[in-house]
Parts: sequence; structure tokens; C-alpha cells
Amino acid sequence: MRITTQENLMSAFAGESQAHIRYLHFADVAEKEGFPNVARLFRAVAFSEQVHAINHFKLLRHLKDGFLTVAHAPFGPGNTSKNLELAIMGEEYEIEEMYPVYLEVAKFQGEKRAEMSFKWALESEKKHAELYKKAKEFVDSGKDAPFDKIYVCKICGYTVKGEVPERCPICGAPRDRFKEF
Ligand code: FE2
Ligand code: FE2
Ligand code: FE2
Repeated sequence: MRITTQENLMSAFAGESQAHIRYLHFADVAEKEGFPNVARLFRAVAFSEQVHAINHFKLLRHLKDGFLTVAHAPFGPGNTSKNLELAIMGEEYEIEEMYPVYLEVAKFQGEKRAEMSFKWALESEKKHAELYKKAKEFVDSGKDAPFDKIYVCKICGYTVKGEVPERCPICGAPRDRFKEF
């Protein structure tokens, strides 16, 4: 694998792994503060980030001696409103800077599988930012978000609330590959 794409996969693996744990922690805080639907959203998105982390990790299996990597992500103690703000910042960084750049590098380097893994993550992060923004509006007015069921594609991490699609619009997986939250 070409070195820059490989480094980008490592960095994305680290970022997604941290986001996974960060959102599980944010879910616990939301639960304690009386926002059970926001807690459910954090858990759904945490699962989506896990899917991204594993997809990236699988492309690094050739690194038999393991690898070291560092993630930089916004994190700090806060209430649910603050946690949603940090979550939106993290998602927007991925949408506006990280994944578009990684995607273009993977394309340039002819790394098709990495390109797909980055694309799947990018499309999911767009939904995450959208859902977190909606949730923040409710939390900032002192209410829990009135969210219905949330579904996450186990193949690409695509996240949607309400109805589970017949086929995943990102990766084409059938509806039985979605996990319900
Ligand atoms: Fe992600
Ligand atoms: Fe995300
Ligand atoms: Fe999918």
C-alpha cells in the first residue's frame, strides 16, 4: 500500500476509535441528565464510528508488527449541550477537511479499497453532524430530542432516523444489515 494512504488510514482508525469511546461516554452523561433519546443517538453514532474504525483497520492487516498512531479530537468535561458542540466540531472536521483530503489522496494513489472506506465514513459523518445539530436545538431548550428509532448500517456505518431504508443508500446493503437503536 502507498505510504500516505496507509498513514491516513492509521490516523482515521485512531480518530474513529476515539470517537467511538467518546460518544459512549457522552451517552452516559446524556442519560444521567435526563436526555434518553440523545443518549440513544450517541450510542448509535458510537456504533457507526466502530464500523468505520474496523473498516479502516482491516485495510491495515498487512502491518504484521502492528503500528503506533495518534488521534487529535476535541474532548473535555462537559454537559450534554457542550458534548454535542464538541461532537459537531469533530464531525465537521471530518466532513470538511479530513475525509475529503484522505479520499483525494487515495484516488490519486489508486488505492481503491481505502477510497471506499473513506467515502463510506465521509457520507456517514454528514448524517452524524445533521443529527447532532438537531439534537442540540432540543437540548438547548431543555428538552430531550423526540427521535424515533435510529438505524445504523453494519457495513458502512450510514446512520438514519425514522425508517430503515430498503437498501443502504451508501453501500447498497439490504435492510437486514441495519442495527436498530
Ligand atoms: Fe466515523
Ligand atoms: Fe461520525
Ligand atoms: Fe451501508
